[in-house]
Amino acid sequence: MNVSKAASVQKMFDAIAGQYDLMNRVMTMGQDQRWRRFVVSRIDIPEQGRVLDLATGTGDIAALLAEEYPKGHISGGDFSQHMLHFAKKRFADTAIDWQACDANHLPFGDNIFDGVTFGYLLRNVDDVPRVLKEIHRVLKPGGTIVSLDTTPPARNILYPFISAYLRYGIPILGRMIASDEAAYSYLTGSTMGFYTADELAAAFTSAGFKTVQYQKFMCGTIAVHWGVK
Ligand SMILES: C[S@@+](CC[C@H](N)C(=O)[O-])C[C@H]1O[C@@H](n2cnc3c(N)ncnc32)[C@H](O)[C@@H]1O
Repeated sequence: MNVSKAASVQKMFDAIAGQYDLMNRVMTMGQDQRWRRFVVSRIDIPEQGRVLDLATGTGDIAALLAEEYPKGHISGGDFSQHMLHFAKKRFADTAIDWQACDANHLPFGDNIFDGVTFGYLLRNVDDVPRVLKEIHRVLKPGGTIVSLDTTPPARNILYPFISAYLRYGIPILGRMIASDEAAYSYLTGSTMGFYTADELAAAFTSAGFKTVQYQKFMCGTIAVHWGVK
């Protein structure tokens, strides 16, 4: 990853960590946990399996995994120390192995995990194919990858309304709730410029994943992709 982009993304998440959860709930109108539950429902691992929730942020997906697999080994990894600080605080009573790590160079051996999940990671990295290959490396053969991310809205009848919400509504909410309009303008820009859901599915396949599928939510602005190594 380009050092300056990695550094600015890390700095941005460090800065908004305290308001991150509230902002998520408000801007998704309370839908965000439903998508994370869908992510967890796509994972199918043995009772005592190992799952890595990468870009875990404040830990919501990792905590849902721990709830679903109480005998499993759940790791939550992120390169923002402030986001991890809130994750550890929020889920202090949950057995999750929190790790500071960069998705470009995972500090794990080959074929370790039964599943790797990540919410809103790929939009933030410079080299999506490289990160997908890195995730492929740490997954066991037969292991599942599940991604949750925003996706550019389709140019249909709803497009003007969705695009106005993304361009104006979200940055205004960012200013009001997180006191950081720039971070949420970045969210809009990085969504509009991101892979379409079909392009991302093709990137999963190119990285070596099979049976790649996806489902969209929130008027087509959110997509969950999954596949198997
Ligand atoms: C929008 S937050 C998502 C947090 C969480 N997954 C959720 O569902 O709310 C994106 C997270 O990705 C992390 N991140 C971005 N690029 C990363 C990278 N290269 N390696 C590790 N974490 C990264 C950020 O620090 C941030 O915590």
